[in-house]
Amino acid sequence: MSLAVLVSGTGSILDAMIEAGLPVDLVVSDRPCTAVTLAAGHDVEAIVVHRSSFGDDFDRDGYSALLAGRLSERSVTLVAMAGFGTVLSRPFYDGFAGRVLNTHPALLPAFPGWHGVRDALAAGVDVTGCTVHQATLEVDAGPILAQEEVKVRPDDDETSLQERIKVVERRLYVDTLWAVLDGVIQFQPAPEGAAP
Ligand code: GRF
Repeated sequence: MSLAVLVSGTGSILDAMIEAGLPVDLVVSDRPCTAVTLAAGHDVEAIVVHRSSFGDDFDRDGYSALLAGRLSERSVTLVAMAGFGTVLSRPFYDGFAGRVLNTHPALLPAFPGWHGVRDALAAGVDVTGCTVHQATLEVDAGPILAQEEVKVRPDDDETSLQERIKVVERRLYVDTLWAVLDGVIQFQPAPEGAAP
C-alpha cells in the first residue's frame, strides 16, 4: 500500500506516524501550515493543494476531484486524515471509497464536527476521548476502528483537554494504521444505504 497523510495544522500526529516508521509516502495539505514544513524536515514529499484557489463559495466537488487526482497520480492506495481542515465530497470518495481513515477528538458518535473537544466540555461529560474511524461522505459517521477514553479534569479548558487527547491519538492512530497495513484490521463495509 502507498500511504498519504492529509493535514492542515501543526502536524503532531503526522510527526508521530513518521517517527513510528509508518511508510508515509506523501503528505498533502490544503493550506500552507507547519505540518508541511515538518514533512520536509523528515524528507517526506509534501504538496499543498490550495483550497483558497477554489473561490469564495468554495467549489467543494472541484477541489475533491483535484485532490483525488493528485493522489491517484502518485498511486496512493491508503489515505489518513490527521487534522485535515476540508470536508471532501463525493468526487473524492468515489475514487478512494473504503480507503480513507480519520482521527476525531471525541468518542464518536458523541460530539462529531469541528469542535469535538469544545462540545464535550460544554456538555459537562466526565469522560471523552478519541476515535479512529473510516472516513465516509457523512462527516465523522464512518465505521469505528478504535477508540480510547480520556478523563476530563475539573480544571480543563479546551486547550489542555485537546492536548491530552492528542497524546492518545498519536499512539492510537499509529497502532491502528499498522494494524490496517498488516491486515489485522480490515475495513468494514459502510452501514447499509450509506454513501461510500
Ligand atoms: C487532532 O486532535 C485531530 O483529531 C483533529 O485535529 C488534531 C490534529 O492535530 N482533527 P495535529 O495537527 O496533528 O497536531
